[in-house]
Amino acid sequence: MKTTMRTHTCGELGAAAIGTRAVLCGWVHRRRDHGGLIFIDLRDRWGLTQVVFNPAVAGPVHERAGTLRAEYVLKVAGEVRRRPAGTENPKLATGEVELAADEVEVLAPSASPPFTIESDAEAGEEVRLTYRYLDLRRPDLQRVLAMRHRAMLEARNYFDARGFLEIETPVLSKSTPEGARDYLVPSRTQPGSFFALPQSPQLMKQLLMVAGVDRYAQICKCFRDEDLRADRQPEFTQIDMEMSFAGEEDVIETIEGLMARLFRAVRGVEIRLPLPRITHAEALERYGTDKPDLRLGMEIRDAGDAVRGSSFNAFEAALAAGGCAKGIAVPGGASFTRSRLDGLVALAVGQGAAGLAWFKVTAGGLESPVAKFLRPGQAERLREAFGASPGDLLLVAADRPPVARAALSALRLRLGRELGLAREGDFRFAWIVEFPLFTFNEEGGRLESEHHPFTAPREEDIPLLDTEPLRARASSYDLVLNGSEVASGSVRIHREDLQRRVFGLLRIGEEAVRERFGFFLEALRYGAPPHAGIAVGLDRLVMLMAGRDTIRDVICFPKTQKASCLMTGSPSAVAPEQLRELHIRTV
Ligand code: AMO
Ligand code: AMP
Repeated sequence: MKTTMRTHTCGELGAAAIGTRAVLCGWVHRRRDHGGLIFIDLRDRWGLTQVVFNPAVAGPVHERAGTLRAEYVLKVAGEVRRRPAGTENPKLATGEVELAADEVEVLAPSASPPFTIESDAEAGEEVRLTYRYLDLRRPDLQRVLAMRHRAMLEARNYFDARGFLEIETPVLSKSTPEGARDYLVPSRTQPGSFFALPQSPQLMKQLLMVAGVDRYAQICKCFRDEDLRADRQPEFTQIDMEMSFAGEEDVIETIEGLMARLFRAVRGVEIRLPLPRITHAEALERYGTDKPDLRLGMEIRDAGDAVRGSSFNAFEAALAAGGCAKGIAVPGGASFTRSRLDGLVALAVGQGAAGLAWFKVTAGGLESPVAKFLRPGQAERLREAFGASPGDLLLVAADRPPVARAALSALRLRLGRELGLAREGDFRFAWIVEFPLFTFNEEGGRLESEHHPFTAPREEDIPLLDTEPLRARASSYDLVLNGSEVASGSVRIHREDLQRRVFGLLRIGEEAVRERFGFFLEALRYGAPPHAGIAVGLDRLVMLMAGRDTIRDVICFPKTQKASCLMTGSPSAVAPEQLRELHIRTV
């Protein structure tokens, strides 16, 4: 990393350099004045080096050092010395040495930064995003950027070695539906017409298969105008791939190899393959969600048989109405205070549940306000249904199954966090397979694609399309890691007639099909190979690898919840001439 300005980086000098001269460049991370000596920790991307200014070594330089402030950019020269015994810093790569400065040059002064870079004291998110370039100076964010780079490079090399071509698909294009709103770009040359930024390269990559490319992989930006959350950004990156003459097993095998490679290279972690697979139905049954966090344990059990016939009205009413009684056992939860239990009930109610019954498992039986309503033997059967032991807490919700599941899933997540079961560095993957092809949109009164309309039904379920489409399963698969969906894909429909049938079931009218997907259906008439693919959400994956809680931390210049960039102030108004040229009038 030697340049014409420096001999070393700030992360480089060690015992071997003692006695030599070095020139370092970097930012003033921290300054400490100690009885005549001034210490500056000089920082660059590579690390920190302690620079010491001694009035006895170079008086004017020492005087100069007294005026240096946080985030000044310096060039410092001097001799590399062993730190005095007892002052070494084993936490620092350069902790054995210091640079005894005899020359210093201020390459750039710095205004007083709006928050300190050196301390971990959390500045407000708003000011951090406004001054994102300062936020990014923090060593932990620098590490994340480097991890992201490493993941992308490894992914490219992985796919290259397996014969995939990286091909850039257009960004100015036609709408590719993935369930969000489009970002539109007005055309200047065709008044009233718009491009849509891709929600994904889905149609383009399928057309590349029709084009005979055979294997495609691209690291690409996708754009979705949707409600933002901690794991969503309007502009995000996918590792997108598609392969021909291939099916579910081929894609799964390829992605498992990719994950193993990325985790080894980026985190030094070995992922055991093959990854477990859970059907969609089983995931809902055991975890209440299609993206379970497998680190947490506390699987959902059915308690209906155990409690049926009690005199607790909430249980009986729910069961009589065709509902269920389901719950989880919380290890060690019998010691929870009343107010903590009330908090859990409130969480369940917030998820739409009618209530939540709790039972403390003790050596003497179950302790609960509801216990008195149980018939003889039911307490023991309830305990057995959960395989619970004294000290555990049983939480039971009696409701319609989707409501009970939502409540128990939320309880698992909250308790997992509170009880420290979601351990950092523990990476638990699972494939979720056999999704339904469609879900029913109650509001619209019609079917919707669970994944996207290009997903093939499982071969054996094709007959169900005409009779019970909601029972048809898809050839699709999601990869879930620690409770996040990190990848999602499917085998595609490669026959025009089947694709038309699916559009029909989705009640997309013929006119709309022609207008939106005509070019694509046309392509399917010219010999499309069977093909399948998937897209990995790179931001989410790197977020989990780096142990961060928001994808904003792994995106260099992210957007806020309101989809704006505080640093540049975008989106922003444009000049009236620009709008005129684009044939746009705002109202
Ligand atoms: P899907 O829409 O599931 O599938 O997206 C694939 C993966 O991309 C990530 N992701 C996001 N990450 C950050 N912000 C967002 N707004 C966001 N939306 C999605 C998720 C998700 O699993 N074309 C299909 C893939 C295919 O079938 O090949 C697609 O885009 O990690
Ligand atoms: P209530 O009789 O409504 O005061 O409820 C007594 C206890 O039973 C409270 O802790 C409620 O949260 C709980 N409860 C109420 N309805 C249900 C239900 N459907 N399933 C489980 N617990 C319930």
